[in-house]
Amino acid sequence: MTADPRRSPLGPVGAAEPSTAQPGVDSPRAQWLTGVGHVSYGGDYNPEQWPEEVWAQDMALMREAGVNLVSIGIFSWGLLEPSEGVYDFGWLDRLIDLLHAHGIRVDLATPTASPPAWFFHTYPHTRVVSRDGTVLGFGSRGMVNPSSPEYRRASVAIARELARRYGRHPALALWHVHNEYGAPVSEDYSAVSAAAFRAWLERRYGTLDALNAAWGTAFWGQRYGAWEHIDVPALAPSIVNPSQRLDFARFTNDALLECFVGERDAIRAESDVPITTNFMAGACPSVDLWRWAREVDIVSNDHYLTAADERGHVGLALAADLTRSVAGGRPWILMEHSTSAVNWQPRNVAKRPGEMARNSLAHLARGADAILFFQWRASRSGAEKFHSAMLPHAGTGSRTWREVCALGAELGRLDEVLGSRVRADVAILWDWESFWAQDLEWRPSEDLDHRERIDAFYDRLWRDGHTVDFARPDADLSRYRLVVAPASYLLTAASGANLARYVADGGTLLVSYFAGIVDENDAVHPGGFGAPLREALGVSVEEFLPLRAGERVHVALDRAAAGPAADHAGLELVGDVWADDLVLDSAAVVGTFVDGPAAGRPAVTRNTHGAGTGWYVSTRLDVDALAGLLEPVYRDAGIAPSGLPADVELVRRHGADADFAVVLNHGDQAVDLPLTGVDLLSGESAEGSVKVAAGAVRVVRTARP
Ligand code: GLA
Repeated sequence: MTADPRRSPLGPVGAAEPSTAQPGVDSPRAQWLTGVGHVSYGGDYNPEQWPEEVWAQDMALMREAGVNLVSIGIFSWGLLEPSEGVYDFGWLDRLIDLLHAHGIRVDLATPTASPPAWFFHTYPHTRVVSRDGTVLGFGSRGMVNPSSPEYRRASVAIARELARRYGRHPALALWHVHNEYGAPVSEDYSAVSAAAFRAWLERRYGTLDALNAAWGTAFWGQRYGAWEHIDVPALAPSIVNPSQRLDFARFTNDALLECFVGERDAIRAESDVPITTNFMAGACPSVDLWRWAREVDIVSNDHYLTAADERGHVGLALAADLTRSVAGGRPWILMEHSTSAVNWQPRNVAKRPGEMARNSLAHLARGADAILFFQWRASRSGAEKFHSAMLPHAGTGSRTWREVCALGAELGRLDEVLGSRVRADVAILWDWESFWAQDLEWRPSEDLDHRERIDAFYDRLWRDGHTVDFARPDADLSRYRLVVAPASYLLTAASGANLARYVADGGTLLVSYFAGIVDENDAVHPGGFGAPLREALGVSVEEFLPLRAGERVHVALDRAAAGPAADHAGLELVGDVWADDLVLDSAAVVGTFVDGPAAGRPAVTRNTHGAGTGWYVSTRLDVDALAGLLEPVYRDAGIAPSGLPADVELVRRHGADADFAVVLNHGDQAVDLPLTGVDLLSGESAEGSVKVAAGAVRVVRTARP
């Protein structure tokens, strides 16, 4: 029997069917993280880099630091399978038994992010081909084509061997499949991927007519008359069909997900221990975590500060909120962060005293029930020898080591926080498919930057003290008072209808420019720009009026329409990058362009639709100017800024019997906050006021309001 090329070898995952199902499963496996009874603490542990005499010292030091969970074997394929089908598990047997004897739980990885030298020697065509046709070499990691049948067979085989050997070991707490899918490379442009892409397209479209229609191939004479004529969107003389590239991004996401599912199912057949894979929420744009999160038992995430960003704690908060959101609100694992500097940024800034604990507890505040690092002991050799670690090169006399031990002790006082949930009144729409589409070439302005807009709106909400969820545009949004859409370039008609329903039912929606422009095929919506949002917003866009580099426009907020916002000092807001020629339908004008290409035309509009309101802003406002815009929007939503001191963050976790206010002071001044309760970290009780020293954190068990 010949295999049907359209059938995915690993089942139906590749059938690119979007789903709105909630991620995660409330199985006993998903409960492990909370059920273990304490905050998990530890990191990546790579003892194969050290003589075994060092392992005994590691055990003693892990106990001293309060480590109770380590991730092992992540890059060990070459040691575990020194030649194809020949296994050497001796060292891993000894290691797992040793950890078990010391009461340290094991997060066992499949080592498939870094295939061994023999693999590439035997199967040279599995190497990744980049978009310009370069074949990527060995001597690094992560350079394998995810569509390669040989890679899939070999990765499933090693996963199965590990699961058979260790799947019931009492030390085993968690499976860690692969490492950071999608990084450092995701797309592969080889002939193997071209064949897999064609099979994927046949599954998606069924007929060439459907594909030609979806891709608009009448344009530039690209019509296809045979499946085998379709190729990967490699570099071409001019830009490649954007619909083809968008589908290639979807195909790549599916190919990576099939790799995960293949390994996961091989493990599941042998072991009932929960399975995760470490995401890079907010940092890795090539995988759609709404889809991935549904396939894991527990969501885990890696996060590293961007050293150049002095407000890195806001980016951290965003990544943590996004992780919690893809986890459907369930507790999650911070699988990696750094004790101090990383080694892969242009300038690797060391963390200041106390910053590591503050970062860790900021993740915990937003739903993490496990705090882990890359890595336990700093490597002497290799590409990451200048990366910080829990046990740095400077050893146990170092500040880092003292802080690692102190953090372990602090986390040991937070058992009762486990499993409590974060609630948000505000959601930001987040859609990887829209980002993939918007990032393609020949958009109306190179200054259109979806991530910059999300970061700016998030930062404004952070400064105003609002805890934020991220949501898909087609999700049930009814629990949110305010939904913000800073970057919804690709928005299906169904999602537009979902947003209109949300507003009609009483919600407040705020949409930023360049939204609702194209459908799922990157084709402009019939009815013009913004057509799917017209019902909710009561406006449409007749023409884009992008601004020149550095050009600024002024927006006058209307006193009557903005209500109390008229008292706001920033009555005239400054924008740049963008303006629209807006056509009013039912919306009222709240802000008018004073100058620029849209002078005298609407810049900010407010539409009453059913029981709610839909707002639109057609220029780029910075974080300060967004305060002026958001004031009347908050009023519609029935929410207000928290009034916390600048650089102070307060996030609440809600437990079955108590609430916990996690207060993080990122500033250099002590603050007093009106809280009553017990600080679990210090044991101190507070009546009406809690002092939080500069740089400090409090976790206050508060009475239920
Ligand atoms: C990633 C990887 C780790 C390590 C760290 C360094 O997150 O998963 O293996 O390379 O980066 O920051």
